[in-house]
Amino acid sequence: MAAGVAAIFLFALVLHLSLVKEETSHLLERENRAARTLAASMRFPITQVLLYEEIGLVAEAGLLDLYITRLAGNKDMRIAYVMVLGPDGVVLSHSDLTQFHKQLADPLTVTALAAADITLTMVGDPLNGGVIDVAAPLSISSKRFGTLRFGYSLAGMSAEVQALTGKILYISMSAAVLLVFIAFVAARIMTRPIRRLSDALNSVRLGNLDPAPLPERNDELGELHNSYRIMVNRLREEESERKRTQELLVSTEKMATIGTLAAGLAHEVNSPLTGAMHGVQALRKESLPSQKRDQYLKVVGESLENIRRAVSQLLDYSTVHATHLSDCNVGHLVGKTLELLDFQLDRGRIEVANRVPPLTVRADAHKMEQVLVNLVLNAIAAMPSGGKLDIGHIEDGAFLTLSVADTGCGIPEENLDRIFEPFFTTKGTGKGTGLGLAVCKKIVEQHGGRMRVSSRTGEGATFFISLPYTPR
Ligand SMILES: Nc1ncnc2c1ncn2[C@@H]1O[C@H](COP(=O)(O)OP(=O)(O)O)[C@@H](O)[C@H]1O
Ligand SMILES: [Mg+2]
Repeated sequence: MAAGVAAIFLFALVLHLSLVKEETSHLLERENRAARTLAASMRFPITQVLLYEEIGLVAEAGLLDLYITRLAGNKDMRIAYVMVLGPDGVVLSHSDLTQFHKQLADPLTVTALAAADITLTMVGDPLNGGVIDVAAPLSISSKRFGTLRFGYSLAGMSAEVQALTGKILYISMSAAVLLVFIAFVAARIMTRPIRRLSDALNSVRLGNLDPAPLPERNDELGELHNSYRIMVNRLREEESERKRTQELLVSTEKMATIGTLAAGLAHEVNSPLTGAMHGVQALRKESLPSQKRDQYLKVVGESLENIRRAVSQLLDYSTVHATHLSDCNVGHLVGKTLELLDFQLDRGRIEVANRVPPLTVRADAHKMEQVLVNLVLNAIAAMPSGGKLDIGHIEDGAFLTLSVADTGCGIPEENLDRIFEPFFTTKGTGKGTGLGLAVCKKIVEQHGGRMRVSSRTGEGATFFISLPYTPR
């Protein structure tokens, strides 16, 4: 655009200069013709006067001076100076009286005296106070009486040129401005569709995969639009494929965890079941005093309630739920998770501390429970001969961070970067899937949160889950 504008102005300037130059030379030619005509019309009456003087018909100088004064005084004739020279260069009459009787010998006079016809000489700058010096021989057949010389003023012409220059400048600059405006509008019209496409591409970059409504076109831009649509569609397909894979990973991990939990459940159900069976057997005896009967009934009821609770916890955990954000009480959630894993923790001789207060975050309760179950099961696996599990919290501005710390084997430094990768496990085949932490991280990130770990071999591990949080 800038180059175009510069080119247009340069063109206008060159056009302007060449027009002015051409017009000036036309005008100069016209002025030359006018000066020549004026000389031709003046030379005869003056020759006549000189002839009359020579033959003594009129008094010497009187008529000539009158004539010269009239000529010089007539503004319409544009005469700057006028003189009549004798054959030897003596001034016979002059518009400037001080020149009278002087003998002129300057080069112009010398040429004028020698010339046989009218001669025109440019003196000075035609556009700045210049004159055309005109010399006309005064003669009748071969008899030369003298020479008429006058300066034809070009002041009128330079005024005319100035007016013309202004007009041409005005027109050429208006044309230049108009051209610039047209160029600007055309550029805008041309760049708008490109900008629209670039905006659409930018919004893809920012993660918006809804195709922008770009018009159908038959040109190169239309081809780009088609490529854009194909690209967006492919990205959408890939994105939904990726989501499907992720969901699959989450549910695969969950199935594996349910397997672990179910194995625990069998043990957990066993003892209340035995208790209940004993109770029922005792109740069969008819001679049982009513006080004892009530006691047995209570034992059976409590045992059955324990079994019901264990089974319903596992059922609840195994149900697949669509993601649904709600206000969750994190203290509560941690308590519920620890209850679900009660048997595993007991069997692993693990001392548990839940120090999380009942704070509220916006989260999917089932997904967060899955995260906590994973972390606690990992901690249990890391403490084969018992230990401590401490669940705490840190509030830092816009985040609520839960910490799950164990006193287990810890994680060697070279593995710290890899534990969140899917399928990374140090547990033997059939024992670990390697999906637990990958799924935890995914879930936490879907909540707009972050997950990290701090650990050293032999010194236990602490996992941190930060979730977006608005303190109330
Ligand atoms: N609390 C922990 N202490 C020590 N190592 C851990 C802990 N949690 C996870 N890890 C390490 O991270 C690996 C990956 O864990 P995870 O993704 O849950 O898969 P999995 O439990 O199936 O192995 C584990 O195999 C283990 O080596
Ligand atoms: Mg695990």
